[in-house]
Amino acid sequence: MAVRLDDMEDVNRRLAYWEGPLLAIETSCDETSAAVLDGRSILSNVVSSQVDLHAQWGGIVPEAAARAHIETIGPVVDEAVRAARLEPGRITAVAATSRPGLVGALSVGLTYAKGLAHALRSPFLGVHHLEGHVLSSLACEPAPPFPHVCLVVSGGHTELIQVDAPFRYRLLGQTLDDAAGEAFDKGARLLGLGYPGGKAIEQVAEGGDAKRYPLPRGLSGETADFSFSGLKTALLRLVEREGSRLRIADAAASLQEAIVSVLSERAVQACVRQGLRHLTVVGGVDANRALRARLSVLGEREGVRVFVPDPSLCTDNAAMIGLAASLRLAAGERHGWDLDAQPQAELPGPPKPWDATIGTSV
Ligand code: KG4
Ligand code: ZN
Repeated sequence: MAVRLDDMEDVNRRLAYWEGPLLAIETSCDETSAAVLDGRSILSNVVSSQVDLHAQWGGIVPEAAARAHIETIGPVVDEAVRAARLEPGRITAVAATSRPGLVGALSVGLTYAKGLAHALRSPFLGVHHLEGHVLSSLACEPAPPFPHVCLVVSGGHTELIQVDAPFRYRLLGQTLDDAAGEAFDKGARLLGLGYPGGKAIEQVAEGGDAKRYPLPRGLSGETADFSFSGLKTALLRLVEREGSRLRIADAAASLQEAIVSVLSERAVQACVRQGLRHLTVVGGVDANRALRARLSVLGEREGVRVFVPDPSLCTDNAAMIGLAASLRLAAGERHGWDLDAQPQAELPGPPKPWDATIGTSV
C-alpha cells in the first residue's frame, strides 16, 4: 500500500510549548549537552562527546564520565547560550535530565541546572531521558501524527512504545537483555573493531557478505520483545571457531544484518498489529544506514510511514530534553530543589500540577 504524504496536519500546531527561552541540559551518559529552545524552535544544541576518553577502556567508566561532565558543563552551557544569541538573564526556565542514567553523571547536569534556575529565579524541571528520545520526533517536518509507534534504539535502550499523545505511552515490547547499540558495541569488541562499535561495524560491513555467517535473531514468533544475548554468544563461538580464517567484513555484515532485520521487522509488525500507520525511530543506532534503508522498504510495503529525526537529535543531546521539558512546563509541571538523580525509572505519566506549598509537582 502506498503511503500518502499529503494528508498530515501539523500536530505541533495543537501542542502547547513553553514560551520564552528555555535552557536544557543532558548528562545522563557520556555526552555533555546544553540547548536553548524557544517554543519548539531549537536555537542551539551543543554536544561535547566523551567518546575519545572512554575509548581507551573500551566502554564507559562511570566515575570518569562524571568527572568529565564537571569539567565540560560550564563551557557547554555558555556556548549554547552564546550560539542562541541570548543574554543569560533572558532564560525563563531550566531543565535537565534527572533519570534514568549513570547517577554520578546525571547529578552533574541536574545540580548545575538547579543552581542556574535558583540564580535566575526561574522554574526548574527534571526530565526522563527516554521521554526526550521519544519526543525528539516532534522536531521532524512534518511531525508524526498521534498515535504512533516509536522504536527507541540506543546504547542503553531498545523499546517499542505506542505514543498515543505526548505523556501517554504504552510499552509494547523491549529487550530482555542487551540493547541494540550494546549488541553492536559488544560485537565490535569481539571483532577487534574498537569502541563505540556501531559506526565501526557499519563501515566494515560495507564490503561484506551478510549471508556468509548466519547468526540467530533471538526470540521467534509474534512478539514485540527483543533478545540480543544469543547473538553475542553465537558471534563469540564464530570468532573462536574460525580464528584467523574469520572474514571480518563478512562477520560485521552478518551481525549488522541480524540486528537490523529483527529491529525493522518487529517495529513495522508492531505498527500493523496496533493498526497504526506511523512509526518514529529515535536513538543513536538510528544513524545506521542499513537500518534506515530496511525500515523504509518494509514501511513502504506495509503502508507505514517512517519518521527519523535529524541525526543530531538521535544521539544523546539536550534539544530533545528541551522539547519534552517545554511541553511539561507549559502543562504546569515543576520540580523542587530536592529532586534526585535516579538510575532507573519508568516512563512518566501526564504532568502533575505544581503545588507551591510543598515546592514540587505531586
Ligand atoms: O543514543 P546514543 O548516542 O546513546 C545512548 O543513549 O546510549 O546511542 C549510542 C549507541 C552506541 O551503542 C553506538 O554503537 C550506536 O548508538 N551507534 C550505531 C551507529 N552509530 C551509533 N549503531 C549502529 N550503526 C551506527 N552507525
Ligand atoms: Zn539516549
